Amino acid sequence: MPSAAPLPTTSRQWRAIQTGDVKLRDILLSEQALPPLGSTDVLIRVRAVSLNHTEKLVSEGNFPGSSLDVVPCSDLAGDIIALGQDVSSFKTGDRVSAGRLLGFVEGTLGDTTFRNTGTGIYIDGVLSEYKVLPAESVVTVPDHLTYEEACTLSCVAITAYNALLGGPKHVEKGDTVLVLGSGNLSLFAAQFATTMGADVIFTSSSDEKIAQLKDLGYEKFVNWKTTPEWDKEVHKLTNGRGVSHIIENGGMGTLGKSISAISMGGWIHVVGFLAENTTDVDLTYQAIMKTCIIRGVFVGPTTMFQEMNDFISERQLRPVLDKVFDFDQVPQAYAYLSSSERLGKIVIRIP
Ligand SMILES: NC(=O)c1ccc[n+]([C@@H]2O[C@H](COP(=O)([O-])OP(=O)(O)OC[C@H]3O[C@@H](n4cnc5c(N)ncnc54)[C@H](OP(=O)(O)O)[C@@H]3O)[C@@H](O)[C@H]2O)c1
Repeated sequence: MPSAAPLPTTSRQWRAIQTGDVKLRDILLSEQALPPLGSTDVLIRVRAVSLNHTEKLVSEGNFPGSSLDVVPCSDLAGDIIALGQDVSSFKTGDRVSAGRLLGFVEGTLGDTTFRNTGTGIYIDGVLSEYKVLPAESVVTVPDHLTYEEACTLSCVAITAYNALLGGPKHVEKGDTVLVLGSGNLSLFAAQFATTMGADVIFTSSSDEKIAQLKDLGYEKFVNWKTTPEWDKEVHKLTNGRGVSHIIENGGMGTLGKSISAISMGGWIHVVGFLAENTTDVDLTYQAIMKTCIIRGVFVGPTTMFQEMNDFISERQLRPVLDKVFDFDQVPQAYAYLSSSERLGKIVIRIP
């Protein structure tokens, strides 16, 4: 019988390191010893990793409390190559991923756990050839997705799923969902909403991206740059009713207009803070008069991640990819993350 290949003991990995006085981090390649495999851990050969807006914030030193020396990224896809002695839920060869907050396995988030378990922010993430992770935080990925596609789900996809299908009010046929901007969280939310039979309206600052979104099959848009009163346009597009759900990526800079655009009793899922805060209006009165529900959403637990992957499999959904880079092109991938032209996920393939 041929003997099994020896397991790796080291891994090449990229690190985001603050080397000088400026808060901007250097993205540097290094090789480090792998930690020992605990009895409840799995060892993953990472095949692909994707970047999020969070990686931009961490690399620019703008994510509050992020580590000054960290392996970035949370979103991975790879193969399990070794199991801790107490792991029975997986086998070697399983194609897997893991969520952004390792301690967030089920139910609701503990109030401080995320501080210690946010991969690529507070603790080492996954931009590495091999990664040891606790089995309880690992999920299997949909069979129909390539590694490059499957590595896009750990952060923005689960947040979009939690907003529209993981909370107390699920999106359904007849709903209209407004997504702010054409970023990746919006793209996943739009896909989930469409597959449930809901109508989708995108805001975007770019007519070129609107053209790309049309190619993806979407039909309703407002350019939020050229139409500053985009909330009024949303009312026109919904015959004055307003929308039933909003994916609120902007934060205080857009929340007032979102409350204006929501229908009576609608759901505003607050997920991001991309827009500059220019509000000096008291939003309380507006929220009361709309009887709307403003719900903060912070990724989702491992159990919900697995549920989402099953949903993606059932419906044969595919993430939108923009560009795929090789492992030695990570600095170029980070530079591209700042490009305003990108639409879809930026992926790093690991040989
Ligand atoms: N709550 C959570 O657990 C969670 C998880 C993941 C991400 N997030 C947050 O969610 C947000 C979106 O993340 P992402 O990865 O999808 O970002 P992304 O892919 O970088 O999306 C950026 C897009 O957002 C749009 N945008 C920027 N400023 C805007 C504004 N003032 N008004 C409306 N749209 C604006 C732009 O779309 P156009 O170019 O089309 O205008 C931009 O291209 C970020 O704030 C991120 O930190 C939260």
